[in-house]
Amino acid sequence: MSQRPLIVLHNVTRSYQVGLHAVHALRGITMGIAAGDFVAIMGASGSGKSTLMNILGCLDLPDRGRYLLDDTDVRHLDEDELATVRNRKIGFVFQSFNLVPRTSALQNVELPLVYAGVRARERRARALAALDRVGLADRVHHVPNELSGGQQQRVAIARALVTEPAMVLADEPTGNLDTTSAQEILDVFTSLNAEGRTIVMITHEDEVAARARRIVRLRDGAILDDVRVAPPVLRIAGTGAPVTEAVA
Ligand SMILES: Nc1ncnc2c1ncn2[C@@H]1O[C@H](COP(=O)(O)OP(=O)(O)OP(=O)(O)O)[C@@H](O)[C@H]1O
Ligand SMILES: [Mg+2]
Repeated sequence: MSQRPLIVLHNVTRSYQVGLHAVHALRGITMGIAAGDFVAIMGASGSGKSTLMNILGCLDLPDRGRYLLDDTDVRHLDEDELATVRNRKIGFVFQSFNLVPRTSALQNVELPLVYAGVRARERRARALAALDRVGLADRVHHVPNELSGGQQQRVAIARALVTEPAMVLADEPTGNLDTTSAQEILDVFTSLNAEGRTIVMITHEDEVAARARRIVRLRDGAILDDVRVAPPVLRIAGTGAPVTEAVA
């Protein structure tokens, strides 16, 4: 693989102290994720998926081991710097959408740009473009409870994309959706990845994981297997254009 890894985890551990007992949620995870990859993280309940996701998203830090995101060792960052990394480099998509109620789709998508200090006119233009990208150009003034579940999740994806993050992290993004809406959301992820976006997605379901290029299975906080289905999408540095796929 010739691509530079966007993510490097080296021997990452994370334990929780519960009373007198330690729960070893991650027991030494070592893996890299290339820019342009689409990775599904699978595993039984309690296997450590959300713990890993929280670390990848800089919401939590490893107890031991190293996590390099885009060549930055996150352990050297303070809370403010971690918040900046989260805002600039990572787009989050959750099972329960997590939209701000009684607030239009457009304003929901603008919100990360408000935090990033982008001016109103540019914010609006970028939010409209992101909503258009997910097929919601005709729903921008709707509030969440005027949208279907699948549409709400598309708003959440637009919100995750609007900052042009290096990586989209999705935790069970289709978990609350009917089959048709779930397929539409997966189609959005597939086409975003085809444009070169890096996607890491937690899922319980084999059919959902089948849309990824690589499937990593956790068991008891360790990697059970790591199967490559297709190579990551390559991008030409400095342009947004994907190039023909690399040979794995
Ligand atoms: N805050 C916490 N305090 C104590 N133990 C925790 C905490 N969070 C997670 N754990 C434990 O760590 C282990 C891994 O939990 P994690 O939430 O990462 O699993 P998961 O794979 O996401 O499960 P699920 O599929 O049910 O969401 C579990 O044994 C869990 O009980
Ligand atoms: Mg979980």
